[in-house]
Amino acid sequence: MISRNEAFELLKKYNKDPFHIQHALTVEAVMKWYANDLGYSDEEEYWGIVGLLHDIDFELYPEEHCIKAPELLKEAGVSEDIIHAVCSHGYGITVGCGTTIDVEPTREMEKVLFAADELTGLIWAAALMRPSKSTKDMELKSLKKKYKSKGFAAGCSREVIERGANQLGWELNDLLDKTLHAMAASEDTINEAMLAG
Ligand SMILES: [Fe+2]
Repeated sequence: MISRNEAFELLKKYNKDPFHIQHALTVEAVMKWYANDLGYSDEEEYWGIVGLLHDIDFELYPEEHCIKAPELLKEAGVSEDIIHAVCSHGYGITVGCGTTIDVEPTREMEKVLFAADELTGLIWAAALMRPSKSTKDMELKSLKKKYKSKGFAAGCSREVIERGANQLGWELNDLLDKTLHAMAASEDTINEAMLAG
């Protein structure tokens, strides 16, 4: 299996925008948090690597998101199970070039990635609106308010997030609550990593 550092180097080969790096580190941390929460502690690093690599093709090939990824990952020797997981986070989504991604998330890890990815974007947008610019002092109540407000972070699809919760058989509130906790727990470490460059 690709190591965590090799995965990080691979991410940086195709992604230069700090916003994309930060998003990848966030989804990595959230995936690791969920691995522990859901009883997969022995797969923590594996879940994290999937999170780190999930948007590998987005910066350079936004119109072919989840379509170009297998090529980039295969070339780097990444295994098929990771490639499947990466592609499955686009399941049912029609990307810019007009193709609808048909790789279905089947493993619990893949369903978590699908559900949490879009939501981390919304939570981070909500954090930036706060005086603290942080998730650490954000309450579920205020996140729910932002979530319901249609004008807020309109680019973060509530339909995708809700489909994600359904795929897991979770209440939306649980997904919001857990993902907020996961982000608050990792925020300082990610900020430090971003500053370190
Ligand atoms: Fe993403």
